Amino acid sequence: MNQRWSPARYERTADYLFPASQAAVEAADLRCGEVLLDSATGTGNAAAVALDRGARAIGVDSAPEQIDGARERLPGVTFAVADAEDLPVPTSSVDAAVSVFGIIFADNPIRALDELVRCVRPGGSVAFTTLSADGWPNHARTLLAAELGAPAPGFPTLWSAGDAAERAAADAGLAAIQVRSRELRLSLDAGRGFADQVTERLSALAALRAQLEARGGWVRASTRLDEYLAECAQFESSTPVLVDPYLVVSGRKP
Ligand SMILES: C[S@@+](CC[C@H](N)C(=O)[O-])C[C@H]1O[C@@H](n2cnc3c(N)ncnc32)[C@H](O)[C@@H]1O
Repeated sequence: MNQRWSPARYERTADYLFPASQAAVEAADLRCGEVLLDSATGTGNAAAVALDRGARAIGVDSAPEQIDGARERLPGVTFAVADAEDLPVPTSSVDAAVSVFGIIFADNPIRALDELVRCVRPGGSVAFTTLSADGWPNHARTLLAAELGAPAPGFPTLWSAGDAAERAAADAGLAAIQVRSRELRLSLDAGRGFADQVTERLSALAALRAQLEARGGWVRASTRLDEYLAECAQFESSTPVLVDPYLVVSGRKP
């Protein structure tokens, strides 16, 4: 089990990431009545978007705890515990496939992308999102991991910078590739410590905080994290907002 994705911690992260599922499903051009495959579904964000559009969904994740949460949230959807690199889905059997901040975490993201393409019917679409290595969450992770004396978990991912994701989509055999820049936005309460708030919202940061608290290192780390977050927050009508750019990469299976 991967503790970072425990749904007890993950629920608020899923809320934060939800707009990216909307963007990915939109980019995959999913229509009413079609079937969507959501690889590394977590607690089923993209599957939920598919249902909202009158489509059906299949969700796969390697963390059983995530799939338990997804099943509870969306009882009508078929979910399976499996690795994104070896999907239990027949070839050319779905109309569209997405992975939202999912296959980028696979040991072999190229193989996981090939699997998405394999499952989609000819003419169907694939879309996946990639995190930016320059985004505040990655810097926050790196900062907290440094306080622990450990390498930052999970980064850099293969496609976290530049046009590598676009090349990967082409190498996976997709046509009509589009790369869209989008932003996740996290509004903060100006009256509370920013470090407290982001560790409440992002499960990967919460896991690092728990380790620091266990070692008595959280007070110093949170001061540093507060300083960093105060530098990168933007103010919208006096509300601090953290903006995290990401990419939505999509293409059609010929
Ligand atoms: C950041 S979460 C995103 C979850 C979901 N797509 C969302 O947007 O809320 C990453 C997910 O990838 C899953 N994951 C990581 N590596 C995986 C793999 N090799 N195969 C399947 N799922 C994987 C994790 O269990 C986790 O649920």
